[in-house]
Amino acid sequence: MRLVSFWGKGGTGKTTCSASLAAGLSEEEGKDVLLLTTDPTPTLSDVLKYSLGPAPVRVDGFRNLWAAQFDEEAVKRMWRERFGEEVYEVVSSFLPVGRDFVDYAAGAPGIADQFMLYLVYLHWRGGEHDLIVWDTPASSGSMRLLRIEEEFYSHMSEAIRMYLRLRGFLKRMRRRSSLRNPLELIEEWRDLARGILEMLTDESHTPILVATPERVSYLLTVRMRREMEGMGIRIRTVIVNRLLRRCGCEELDAMAKRQTDVLKEFKASFDRVRVIENVGFEPSGREDLLRFYDNLRGLI
Ligand SMILES: Nc1ncnc2c1ncn2[C@@H]1O[C@H](COP(=O)(O)OP(=O)(O)OP(=O)(O)O)[C@@H](O)[C@H]1O
Ligand SMILES: [Mg+2]
Repeated sequence: MRLVSFWGKGGTGKTTCSASLAAGLSEEEGKDVLLLTTDPTPTLSDVLKYSLGPAPVRVDGFRNLWAAQFDEEAVKRMWRERFGEEVYEVVSSFLPVGRDFVDYAAGAPGIADQFMLYLVYLHWRGGEHDLIVWDTPASSGSMRLLRIEEEFYSHMSEAIRMYLRLRGFLKRMRRRSSLRNPLELIEEWRDLARGILEMLTDESHTPILVATPERVSYLLTVRMRREMEGMGIRIRTVIVNRLLRRCGCEELDAMAKRQTDVLKEFKASFDRVRVIENVGFEPSGREDLLRFYDNLRGLI
């Protein structure tokens, strides 16, 4: 199962590129494509001009395109269904908490972000499609999400392990045989985290950074690449989107000139740079997206 993901600062064109690549590959190569967004305030549905929810639907009017978007409420609900009972079991085994603790935990910072990775992972592992195209939220959110993935489980399990040791809790746990050993559950969670990291670092994953030809965007993109590579996610391709063409207007031409200078820096720092001009319209719907795909052909 192949996975292509788009990462970058807010408003650089991640959603546009994701939707257009997914539409183009399904149309021209006959691929069965699943397009997912983990942006908590998604715009994918507007870009496709099709109503989307957390369960993938086949998008009318496209050849073989499936899509889903997970808004924050749906994600919390799904997290509660999937992990709520387990979390309650673990935490209530050493703290006096009621079931409402699960709601509290579901709202904890990072949980929704983290769970979205899990949802992408489930689809990836499920392997029902030829390709998954994944539109991630703006950079700060995505990076936080990856860091959480790395740190969350190890911190949590260390903390709990220590607590259990201190209280000699395991002994008593064994007597209460109806309860599962929380360490076993935590091990299962860690396996999931490992699986997710494996998906992200796998050869079949193509992460693509999307930037605009401005200096700040360049600096941030270089920083993102460093962070992702630190986690073993290798970046080869960057899209520099919305490049202005010279038009004879003094102010815009000065801007275009600055953009050309920044573009040189991108080219010096990245193996593969795909430049996309400002197309002069906001791509949405089948026709626009397939037209925009001209800029993405051969990218993966
Ligand atoms: N090459 C382009 N030419 C003109 N407009 C573009 C181009 N690429 C994207 N846009 C427009 O720029 C805006 C931002 O694009 P998009 O929503 O795809 O970015 P994003 O990175 O997903 O943003 P966010 O971080 O908010 O999710 C949209 O209005 C989109 O239509
Ligand atoms: Mg977006």
